[in-house]
Amino acid sequence: MDLAVKKITLGSSKSKVAISVTKNLIPMIMDVVQFEVQKAMSSKLQQIDLENIPFGKVFTDHMFVVDYYNNKWQEAKILPYGKLELSPSISALHYGQAIFEGMKAYKNFKGENMMFRPHDNIKRFNQSASRMCMPKVPDKLFIEGLRQLIIADSDWIPEKKGYSLYLRPMMFATEERIIVKPSDEYKFLIIASPAGKYYNEPLKVYIETHYSRAAKGGVGNAKAAGNYGAVMFPSQIAKNKGYHQVIWTDASEHQNIEEAGTMNVMFVIDNVLVTPQLSDTKLPGITRHSVLSVAREWGVKVEERTITVTELIEAYNAGKLTEAFGTGTAATIAHIKTIGHEDKDYHLADANANSLSWKISEELTNIKYGTSTDNFGWMHKV
Ligand code: COI
Repeated sequence: MDLAVKKITLGSSKSKVAISVTKNLIPMIMDVVQFEVQKAMSSKLQQIDLENIPFGKVFTDHMFVVDYYNNKWQEAKILPYGKLELSPSISALHYGQAIFEGMKAYKNFKGENMMFRPHDNIKRFNQSASRMCMPKVPDKLFIEGLRQLIIADSDWIPEKKGYSLYLRPMMFATEERIIVKPSDEYKFLIIASPAGKYYNEPLKVYIETHYSRAAKGGVGNAKAAGNYGAVMFPSQIAKNKGYHQVIWTDASEHQNIEEAGTMNVMFVIDNVLVTPQLSDTKLPGITRHSVLSVAREWGVKVEERTITVTELIEAYNAGKLTEAFGTGTAATIAHIKTIGHEDKDYHLADANANSLSWKISEELTNIKYGTSTDNFGWMHKV
């Protein structure tokens, strides 16, 4: 692990040189915008071990950037990955108009570059944009940005099963003004990072019944940057007690299970796959939807409904709670081995090849790598 981190440091300093000497501009016309590609003069890739890499710390050679001002999106660019020049008065830094997405590209078993459900991420991104009073990113611009970035950095997509190229689209307000109002200017970027597992071991999670992640009528169902900053304090308290993550409960009674912040949560109770129903306090996870779709296709009984903390503990005590797991783009399917509540820990059996979550996880991986049939039309060739 230390070695990988050292390589990252070397890589970043080298990329700065590459940026300053880059000259080869390849203009391309799309039907929505002028599109320019500036290739990095050298790559950091030789210094990276793609199969031994910490999540989210290494970035590829390029990034996609486009600005919004004068009521329209301007010329889009693929640039060498590097620093941005920003004014200290941009409103994102003061009032938090900032949103993002998490999605992944894979190399399938034929060596083709594939995106998983990109249109669902684009749709959710634009829903977040509307909720945060930000302009929508046109689908064609978004998809072309993803495509061009993946093409530019295709050598960065790990080939090993279970690994991927994590794509992080983001938008933030760039108007230089500290009046509280929606910005008239924005920057949309996509950066990419080769990724293995987000969690390297089964999780210990703590059911939080004091702090809240989201309240009714708030922004809990948007991928707003502030949602993630706001939960760091209670998450840190749980980490200090030895838990990896918090399971959030509803903000008024702290009785209903919501989600885990980096992932949605699911349980197998009495052979039924149960997960909290979507609402404005939970992120509508694309992995969540994929897991439920596969389960339904297999004839598994699925319930999207309110799950109370009391029900969960009673099911555990009755031996009916057999599996708990999180679902998310970064987390994929993360097995939960311990659920903490108040001063008690409830331990579940390790997942194994007979567990529902294990089987669904295998199936999703196989769909992504092209070794299972993609009945849902989720995979898109770049
Ligand atoms: C993702 O799963 O892609 C997310 O955005 C969660 C993030 C906190 C890693």
